[in-house]
Amino acid sequence: MKITCRNVEKLYALDGRTIRALAGVSCEMRSGELVVVMGRSGSGKTTLLNAVGGLDRPTAGSVLVDGEDLYASGDRALSRYRNERIGFVFQSFHLSHDETALENVLVPFLFARRPPPDAAERGRSALARVDLGDQVDQPAGTLSAGQKQRVAIARAIVNEPEFVLADEPTGNLDESTGADIVALLVGLARQGLGVVIVTHDPAISQVADRVLRIADGRIVDGADGAGAP
Ligand SMILES: Nc1ncnc2c1ncn2[C@@H]1O[C@H](COP(=O)(O)OP(=O)(O)O)[C@@H](O)[C@H]1O
Ligand SMILES: [Mg+2]
Repeated sequence: MKITCRNVEKLYALDGRTIRALAGVSCEMRSGELVVVMGRSGSGKTTLLNAVGGLDRPTAGSVLVDGEDLYASGDRALSRYRNERIGFVFQSFHLSHDETALENVLVPFLFARRPPPDAAERGRSALARVDLGDQVDQPAGTLSAGQKQRVAIARAIVNEPEFVLADEPTGNLDESTGADIVALLVGLARQGLGVVIVTHDPAISQVADRVLRIADGRIVDGADGAGAP
């Protein structure tokens, strides 16, 4: 799978002002590739990730998925894209603390039109892939921060998506736990998934196949020339 942004622009209206979160971004991301997106706070990283993930419609420009315009495809196709082809990982994990690791991992199947009969088995195997095979029945609230992020990664991959989009996934972790999480994400890319990591941490850019630098809603380095006007 290949995701191409062509002159993507995103404007927000806020208190009568217009904020240009993305000011014409063109870039490309491919399966098997680990892309790291770097830039200061407020530069547009999350907005870009959300546009690529089908969560937020650009004001102008287009996001092409294998050459097809994602946001021209209708709401049902868009939600299938989000639920079946993309896995999301967030800084604050977004887990239900009272539910077990396994119950959290199975959340994507709650939205599936037809959940697979072997959903629980898939959930266990996703947890095994992140080295949490022994914690499946543990309430998420009792896990360490690093383990919580592992559960979130298991949830992101349980549907066997083609891309994993991670928004500051190490932002709430200490350095060594963060490095473990990054290693897991690198592993996914080596297994053929497209992986995009948004981060502030220059150390993470070391493992990237490509680093996209963004400032004031524009890519200032690393766009790979894709879709340039
Ligand atoms: N829902 C929103 N409404 C208004 N402004 C927003 C909204 N989301 C983001 N912004 C603004 O858009 C810009 C880019 O935000 P964001 O993509 O979250 O940056 P980053 O993730 O790099 O910190 C910022 O100026 C931010 O305040
Ligand atoms: Mg952000």
